[in-house]
Amino acid sequence: MKTNRKQIKKPPAHPSGAKPPKLSPSQIPKHVAIVMDGNGRWAKKRGLPRTAGHTAGEAALLDVVYGAIEIGVKEISAFAFSTENWRRSPEEVRFLMGFNRVEIRKQRDEMNSLGVKIKWIGRPQKLWQSVIAELKEAERLTKNNKVLTLNMCVNYGGQAEIVDAVNSISQDVKRNKLKAGAITEKSLKKYFYSPKMLDVDLFLRSSGEQRISNFLLWQSAYAEMVFMDVLWPDVDRRTLWQAIEIYAERNRRFGKA
Ligand code: IPE
Ligand code: IPE
Ligand code: MG
Repeated sequence: MKTNRKQIKKPPAHPSGAKPPKLSPSQIPKHVAIVMDGNGRWAKKRGLPRTAGHTAGEAALLDVVYGAIEIGVKEISAFAFSTENWRRSPEEVRFLMGFNRVEIRKQRDEMNSLGVKIKWIGRPQKLWQSVIAELKEAERLTKNNKVLTLNMCVNYGGQAEIVDAVNSISQDVKRNKLKAGAITEKSLKKYFYSPKMLDVDLFLRSSGEQRISNFLLWQSAYAEMVFMDVLWPDVDRRTLWQAIEIYAERNRRFGKA
């Protein structure tokens, strides 16, 4: 039978043969936010320049995406470059810009064949045009995919996102498109970079550092925090599964007694 529906590829098995833990659907987070941290320390431990750590972390996100699909996560937000990372040396900033551009291009076809929808989340100001162009092309290519949404957070800051939303709101009030004093949690969200983004269920950070670093502040209001003691280049899908097993043991209450 002829069909024009796209063939969706299954994620390849992990080389170790590891399989996702058996959990019930209610124990699986829908949206996982990931702070991909620890590249510099990974490199330092080996006497290498910091940039070598970024390169070494190149395959980790794709493997985590494989594992997310296998276990049934619907949305991943990956923190690739923060609005505060401009404070690093010009050499490292330049490296990270080029690195992001190359990686997005390199991985988008594989992501697309898996049915991953790529979305760019972040502020355009200061971000290299060539990086924005790659992100937009990846968005265009993958816009109809439904298996998993991958939010690439590049030049993202949680405070910046709220400020940008407030500025857009004040413009709309000025143009009489919105009533002053009538903003609700729901209507504010419409002004965020991705209004459809689900609230974060699991906030995962590698490298052992225990802080949010301005990632998805609003969306993580009731996220479960899991900090893993592994540097980003050493992360793979098994790290995600371990974090989900920890998550599955948590008792989420959302303010209820
Ligand atoms: C995360 O690794 C990558 C980015 C922030 C872009 P780091 O570069 O922060 O690595 P550490 O924290 O110095 O080890
Ligand atoms: C957060 O990590 C940003 C990214 C992973 C992209 P940082 O390494 O920049 O955070 P801090 O400076 O340690 O808080
Ligand atoms: Mg860091």
